[in-house]
Amino acid sequence: MSSTLKLIDLINQQATRLEEAKVSFGHGTLSAFDEAVWLALWAMKLPIDDLDAVADAPVSAADQAAVEAIITQRITTRKPAAYLTNEAWLQGVPFYVDERVIVPRSLIAEVIADGSIDEWLSEQTTRVLDLCTGNGSLAVLAAMAYPDVSVVASDLSEAALAVARINIDKHDLAERITLIESDGLKNVQGEFDLILCNPPYVNAESMAKLPPEYLAEPNMALASGPDGMDFTRALLAQAAAHLTLDGVLVLEIGNEQDNFCAAFPNLPVFWLPTSSGDNQVLLITAEMLRI
Ligand SMILES: C[S@@+](CC[C@H](N)C(=O)[O-])C[C@H]1O[C@@H](n2cnc3c(N)ncnc32)[C@H](O)[C@@H]1O
Repeated sequence: MSSTLKLIDLINQQATRLEEAKVSFGHGTLSAFDEAVWLALWAMKLPIDDLDAVADAPVSAADQAAVEAIITQRITTRKPAAYLTNEAWLQGVPFYVDERVIVPRSLIAEVIADGSIDEWLSEQTTRVLDLCTGNGSLAVLAAMAYPDVSVVASDLSEAALAVARINIDKHDLAERITLIESDGLKNVQGEFDLILCNPPYVNAESMAKLPPEYLAEPNMALASGPDGMDFTRALLAQAAAHLTLDGVLVLEIGNEQDNFCAAFPNLPVFWLPTSSGDNQVLLITAEMLRI
């Protein structure tokens, strides 16, 4: 009888459905169980970070139907869960998302939060650029982590900037984050102490094999030429001109370390440890770029 079903049993059933449908993860969760928890708690309007508090609670027929419906939607559309809920969390901070932007999951959020770039920053760090801001999440997290800085957040996509605006307003940061539309650094003025950039970097071969969940995201947010380095090549040619003398660039390159090293064989960089390894986010000083 559905009225005696416990929430944890419903979640396990829905996780099995997700597994059997072979949906792909990586947009906020890494397993069928975690994805089922997220969608079930969201559908039931419960806090999504406290399953323990409600795991053994009985589920009403209406809630069961709502949970089954969102899981069906996830399976049939193969859209990332965040596009169904219009919400994603990064470092515990909620962001509005829709199909105009990729689902926020940048590893740069980790290196902001764990302080691993702090040794390159100082009291003179006052200007931060979030290049390729998309949903605006890194600009927001940087503004929260460094309360004395002002942030410029830029993107080529007008549609993405509209979503970034929603997130900046959501976190009441409009006075500290300025949005600009720019192709790379083209419309960016002045020098920065810290440039954060999670650019498009997926190589053409990998793009051709992406699961539907990733294809639901804007192509221009992922693809960057045959070796994934088109955007990065242009950026590294121009970045020094937009960094202060002691400035640094923190750049995400995902699984493209081989392509990065092949494209820039003589560039000294610091690889920053992340939960996905120490080969996905790097730091380059202005000094290194000027060599
Ligand atoms: C991987 S997404 C990163 C979004 C966000 N920073 C994050 O970490 O979730 C890359 C972003 O780069 C933007 N983009 C692509 N080509 C660009 C270009 N030539 N100039 C500026 N932004 C660009 C896309 O619109 C997309 O929002």
